[in-house]
Amino acid sequence: MRVHEAGAIHAGVGAAPGWLRVPADPNALETHLWPGSVRRGDHGALVLGGLDVRDLARQHGTPVYLCDEDDFRTRCRAFADALPGGDVYYAAKAFLCLATARWASEEGLGLDVCTGGELAVALRAGVAPTRIAFHGNNKSVAEIVRALEAGVGRFVLDSELEIARLGSAAAARGLRADVMVRVNVGVEAHTHEYIATAHEDQKFGFSLVDGHAAAAVADVLTAPSLRLLGLHSHIGSQIFDPAAFEVSARRLVQLHVAARDEHGAELPELGLGGGFGIAYTTRDDPQAPAHLAAELGAAVSSECRSLGIDVPQLSVEPGRAIAGPSTCTLYEVGTVKRVPLGGGATRTYVGVDGGMSDNIRAALYAADYSCTLASRRSQAAPVLARVVGKHCESGDVVVRDEYLPGDVTAGDLIAVPGTGAYCRSLASNYNHVPRPGVVAVRAGRVRLLVRPETEDDLLRLDVE
Ligand SMILES: Cc1ncc(COP(=O)(O)O)c(C=O)c1O
Repeated sequence: MRVHEAGAIHAGVGAAPGWLRVPADPNALETHLWPGSVRRGDHGALVLGGLDVRDLARQHGTPVYLCDEDDFRTRCRAFADALPGGDVYYAAKAFLCLATARWASEEGLGLDVCTGGELAVALRAGVAPTRIAFHGNNKSVAEIVRALEAGVGRFVLDSELEIARLGSAAAARGLRADVMVRVNVGVEAHTHEYIATAHEDQKFGFSLVDGHAAAAVADVLTAPSLRLLGLHSHIGSQIFDPAAFEVSARRLVQLHVAARDEHGAELPELGLGGGFGIAYTTRDDPQAPAHLAAELGAAVSSECRSLGIDVPQLSVEPGRAIAGPSTCTLYEVGTVKRVPLGGGATRTYVGVDGGMSDNIRAALYAADYSCTLASRRSQAAPVLARVVGKHCESGDVVVRDEYLPGDVTAGDLIAVPGTGAYCRSLASNYNHVPRPGVVAVRAGRVRLLVRPETEDDLLRLDVE
């Protein structure tokens, strides 16, 4: 669905979407949507990592991102275990700070960065440079030089210009840089659907179908300062259909074989990217990493077998599937409005103290979320609610459709699960709202990972 430019008030007035069921008990948690340690305590409030969210709100304010460290680490390990002979890079763009870079490294993962800024955080966190993969479709010369000098383990190349840039920067330093070539395989995949096209009209990678990918392989193989590790593709995000990955992997293997047949190049690796979907609502049914890896491995193996080659070492780069479910956002309710929809129906607008500045995904992609009343249990009957932010946009929606107890009121806390990926990392200061802090909880202990911004922070760049 496209969001109307004028905002959500014009975009689909009516009842609840078909997938949303009226809950028998609006206090009940759909546990698979929540970080592993979340439960509703006997007092009725949510408990995360053994801590009552009301206390966390008192100590750290709202909105606040609450991250379950064990959940994040467990998801890292699940991917690492799922690919025993392969490699896993955490896609830092999902959510990067010193702590998450360290957690991913400690759990054995490499880090995928795609800007000088992400690289700086990774290096400051002490991530081994050899475990960093440098992505991005427009790496500047300065970024390339910095990454080379830091000893970054691999570059994922995205254009002819970049092959030349990295080739000469490495040659000038007497280095040989390990690289992968990012291939645009013509598989367009988003959420539950994918399209396998002959072309994909997008900025990333070298096109497979028009021969640019094969030409890039040839160019890299003849550049003395570059060493080609293998081919790479990343086909989209929040993907549920394993067939999308399979088609992509098979197409990649065909180019991998062509590199051997035409150039005698035995490429040791194959990078299958990230994009593994997570559950934001009860409609989403993601696969476990072990299952995904088994399917991907089987697709690559069968393609390799039929082409008579050894199976290369596989790597994946999950971002959302690690960071997303580990975190929920806690908001305080400020206003509640009942808006008549016609035909006797009403929608309850629940205004919270954040919004599109801390989670732009609903406004940007019409993403769906769920939520629950977090500070207490309620006996009130559920009402169809829309949780909205405090920004000057009618499209400033946090949770488009959810059933909340009908007595939800100012001062209540609302928690939204699945906000660990692409929320803090896409946060803004729209309306001069300070960005929330990120707090980690683990076994009854709390730790501030990223402090909340203050009004002084908002003024820090203004020149008097
Ligand atoms: C090259 C690459 N790898 C991995 C990812 C991570 O995707 P996700 O967070 O959906 O797993 C992205 C996301 O944009 C990407 O561009």
